[in-house]
Amino acid sequence: MPELKVLIPRADVAQRVSELGAQISKDFAGQSVILVGVLKGAAIFLSDLARNLDLDATFDFIGVSSYGNRPTPSQELMSGWDSTGEVKLTKDVDQSMKDRNIILVEDILDTGLTMTYLKQLLMARQPRSLKVAALLDKPSRRKLPLEGDYVGFKIPDEFVVGYGLDYAEKYRNLPDICVVPRE
Ligand code: IMP
Ligand code: MG
Repeated sequence: MPELKVLIPRADVAQRVSELGAQISKDFAGQSVILVGVLKGAAIFLSDLARNLDLDATFDFIGVSSYGNRPTPSQELMSGWDSTGEVKLTKDVDQSMKDRNIILVEDILDTGLTMTYLKQLLMARQPRSLKVAALLDKPSRRKLPLEGDYVGFKIPDEFVVGYGLDYAEKYRNLPDICVVPRE
């Protein structure tokens, strides 16, 4: 494994997450929200974001995987996650979304396939509102038009790990966001 390079140090992540929390707290002042984290990558972002909310907030989690040929880790590194576009639900939320303020919390927006699927799925449950919070965004990789409502950092097309993000399930526990060099 090549050496990882720090892209966004932990202090910058913490600062930006507190800004996102302040913005969400302002936008939903006086209301309650459900944070719906996309497993597993969003777990760390969700836990930090939640502690920066000055709101009545509850948690839920949803799990997805992609149909088609899952790339090997090294292919995923070279060309990102190129699924067939079909997303499969592996774990549904535990509670009703009807008339609730939902904030879908994701680690990174890449092609946009996962978030587009999840937004459609949850919109069908008639929430009061549905917003997307993503720590990272790689807009140059988009296959479907999608914009996050609360985005931490826009980054170039690099493969990143840490702060919840993995490479073959590893490195989720790194406190900084790091680039895995493509050699
Ligand atoms: P999308 O459906 O292509 O937008 O896929 C988003 C998912 O792909 C994220 O939730 C991550 O699990 C994964 N992903 C995309 N880019 C990266 C990356 O640079 N590092 C780690 N995982 C990534
Ligand atoms: Mg992943």
